Amino acid sequence: ERVAPTGEHLTPPSSGVVARIIDEVYELCRGDTSGALADYIPELAAVQPDSFALCLATADGQVYGSGDLDTAFTIQSISKPFTYALALADRGTAAVAERIDVEPSGEPFFEISLDPTTQRPRNPMINAGAITAASLVTGHDAADRFERIRRSYCRFAGRDLRLNADVYASEARTGYRNLAIGYLLRGAGIIDIDPDEAVDRYFRQCSIDITCRDLAIMAATLANNGVNPLTHERALTAPLVEQVLSVMTTCGMYDAAGDWVTTVGLPAKSGVGGGILAVLPGQLGIAVYSPRLDAHGSSVRGVKACRELSNRLGLHFL
Ligand code: DON
Repeated sequence: ERVAPTGEHLTPPSSGVVARIIDEVYELCRGDTSGALADYIPELAAVQPDSFALCLATADGQVYGSGDLDTAFTIQSISKPFTYALALADRGTAAVAERIDVEPSGEPFFEISLDPTTQRPRNPMINAGAITAASLVTGHDAADRFERIRRSYCRFAGRDLRLNADVYASEARTGYRNLAIGYLLRGAGIIDIDPDEAVDRYFRQCSIDITCRDLAIMAATLANNGVNPLTHERALTAPLVEQVLSVMTTCGMYDAAGDWVTTVGLPAKSGVGGGILAVLPGQLGIAVYSPRLDAHGSSVRGVKACRELSNRLGLHFL
């Protein structure tokens, strides 16, 4: 089924083939109910486990999709490339590189992964690097710094995105490991601000609600060199898009990054909320939502659907 972006008129499909392949891949993956909901953040276990949506948005603003395209879920770790992008824009690439490296860690997202010599987090996609990136975003005060993050995500999505207060409260109540990572980073001098503030900002950014359609538009904005294809607003400069997509390629899928690159061949990011975003630069963005996760914390049906789409549409470019 070809769908119109929210509030837009449906125009004739530019390619019935794309719409048909999306529907076929959706049907193929729908029956896979393996994996489990994330439950280490209690509120994440409260979602409808069978929800499933698949959406593709092109760099010129065509949107195709199947399933629960408007079901809200929290962005979780898919926030990481976007906050990293804002930190790069605020502080400059060199200043950020002094604090966050760009080497794949090959470890799960919650590993501490600090370079033993420099103490820098290995990359901005693991939690240590993401908390550091959140600490580097500028603003008048803590509320303004989070608001700048939220607004930057809105520019990518082309719509107003809101915090899910229940998920935020749930993570803030249980996120001791992330707090520990924040304190370690503060002790090492990697973050300069109060670690509670940095980690709180990270919890908030992870708790922003999005839909699969939003995520596809965010991916298409990256594909379109940083310009939202629906609003035509610039969300990020082209050189920073390149930096962010490079880091997503090597580090976005954590300890499954090599498997992902060889089987899907696109820069991508997953989140424990069940979303996955993938980008074919210059061409299109893909988003999947299905909350049952594999051992790496990535959506089972999401990984499978991306593999199938990449194969059937010939998207593997890495
Ligand atoms: O740090 C956490 O626990 C979460 N808020 C985000 C983790 C996440 O999404 C990892 N990705 N697959």
